[in-house]
Amino acid sequence: MYRTRIAGTGSYLPEKVLTNKDLETMVDTNDQWIQERTGIQRRHIAADGEFTTDLALKATMKALEASGKTPQDLELIIFCTVTGDQVMPSSACVLQDKLGCKTIPAFDLSAACSGFIYGLSVADQFIRSGMYKTILVVGAEVIHRFVNYKDRETCILFGDAAGAFIVERAPENDPNIVFSSHLRAEGSLGDLFVLPAGGSKIPFRQEVLDNGDQWLRMKGREIFKNAVRTMSSVCSEALQTNGASVADVAWLVPHQANWRIMEAVADHFEFPKDKVVSIVHEMGNTSAATVPVAFDTAVRDGRIQRGQMILLTAFGAGLTSGSCLLRY
Ligand code: UT7
Repeated sequence: MYRTRIAGTGSYLPEKVLTNKDLETMVDTNDQWIQERTGIQRRHIAADGEFTTDLALKATMKALEASGKTPQDLELIIFCTVTGDQVMPSSACVLQDKLGCKTIPAFDLSAACSGFIYGLSVADQFIRSGMYKTILVVGAEVIHRFVNYKDRETCILFGDAAGAFIVERAPENDPNIVFSSHLRAEGSLGDLFVLPAGGSKIPFRQEVLDNGDQWLRMKGREIFKNAVRTMSSVCSEALQTNGASVADVAWLVPHQANWRIMEAVADHFEFPKDKVVSIVHEMGNTSAATVPVAFDTAVRDGRIQRGQMILLTAFGAGLTSGSCLLRY
């Protein structure tokens, strides 16, 4: 069986910034409350005319450069998103065209904020089976266009971003590989975090706008509890499966939703908080993009080094969750 290594990573945050002070002028909130309850200071917002695949393209070009590859080396594109450019065709196909990758297969993967962990796991299976040698996994969202800036509980949380991994078949005996991934879903808890309109259940029409069904809705406190429960559990599963201990892990890269959630997950298995990669202050919750953007940031600033064991984990609408243990 073949194994997967991360060849290179890249990320992109849009230039436009929305600060806590900006939000103070839009809803009944304040910088102190947002920072104390979430750790978020600012988020990046796509400009008018800037779409999810534009962000993804920028992150992908950086990941290709970091891995010493060109678009022509790619054999498959997995595009993890719940805010693609449009319902159809997929954002993966749009990105394939922008990259000039001719006829390689490309598909979108929908697992909300856990999307990137799901996507990495799918890529790992394709490489293990020998079907493909070089795969692009990209997590990208322009989620701010689905946020109601009159709802103070959600509008303070979300931002736009893209992160990309180029993964490839590892040379034989390479120690820097993906060890395992662990995926879960609890559909019975799906109503905790929803975007009601745009599917076959509530197609777009005037009532959608009248009811505000085009906006994200969530039960924040319930989501918080389930986020801590599920991410702690899938992280423990990843360590147990591989006979690894907390001391073996150099960095935990969790979904960046709220610093208090990350802290609580670290506390759950006594993981040192200074080994948790957090850039939530800079970008807020960017859904499927948080894990690859946080990972790439820590690679580029020198925190994550080749040869280190890294634990990734995420949680999202669905409810979905997942973890991935790898050596970078
Ligand atoms: O990827 C998954 C996506 N979702 C999430 O990750 C969300 C997870 N949940 C959270 O991050 C937190 O639950 C929130 C940040 C959303 C809320 O923090 P909390 O500590 O759970 O606050 P709370 O819901 O218990 O609300 C406490 C108070 C309430 O007022 P009362 O009822 O105590 O008078 C809220 O109305 O804070 C109020 N509140 C706010 N105040 C100022 C809620 N949002 C705000 C706000 N500014 N933006």
